[in-house]
Amino acid sequence: MSGKRVLITGATGGVGRFAVQLAHAQGARVTASTGDPGKHGDALRAMGADEVVLGPEHAEGEMDGVVDSVGGQQLVESFAKLAAHGTLVAVGDVTSRPVTFPPGAFLGSGNQHGRTIVTFYSLDGPAPGQDLEHLAGLMNETVLTPHIGWRGDWSRVDEAVDMLTSRTLHGKAVLDVSSDR
Ligand SMILES: NC(=O)c1ccc[n+]([C@@H]2O[C@H](COP(=O)([O-])OP(=O)(O)OC[C@H]3O[C@@H](n4cnc5c(N)ncnc54)[C@H](OP(=O)(O)O)[C@@H]3O)[C@@H](O)[C@H]2O)c1
Repeated sequence: MSGKRVLITGATGGVGRFAVQLAHAQGARVTASTGDPGKHGDALRAMGADEVVLGPEHAEGEMDGVVDSVGGQQLVESFAKLAAHGTLVAVGDVTSRPVTFPPGAFLGSGNQHGRTIVTFYSLDGPAPGQDLEHLAGLMNETVLTPHIGWRGDWSRVDEAVDMLTSRTLHGKAVLDVSSDR
């Protein structure tokens, strides 16, 4: 991945911030997209983002890869940024909005041939033990950090979900499971 350009949408999210760190660790040039670059720009750059943009439409240049965890219009805008033979990995859809591609979006003329969209499901394939061991190793080496944005008793799960869906909690929410319940 060294030198490749990678765009990551929802970069402040639980998925996005791991994608930023992993792509950076592999030597990619990372463009991170967030709804609030002023608030999250410094943190995203500290994670390894080379550029931070307000939505994929503001990313400059062509991308070799996209990791999209937002969906909706951001999926459409991100696909338009792919270079020839680039791949967009559709990981999630937090918007739950219909996706409509404009006329010509799938034409392969110019430098836009061979682009692909790939869906992804983390529980597909073999048991994730080896992958988790690898990621835990990267955390131990501080190549990766989970960025815990909130922690509380598991009885407060609704509070955590409300903060995630209202975009006020960024990163991971940790629920403590107490044995007396
Ligand atoms: N395929 C799989 O195996 C797999 C695995 C895990 C998760 N997922 C999916 O991946 C998606 C992201 O998960 P996550 O844990 O990263 O979620 P998250 O922590 O809530 O992060 C999503 C990010 O997207 C942005 N966002 C939220 N609502 C938005 C909206 N309406 N429009 C534009 N941007 C919005 C927010 O960033 P800003 O506020 O900074 O813009 C937020 O930080 C979910 O759909 C989840 O179900 C899929």
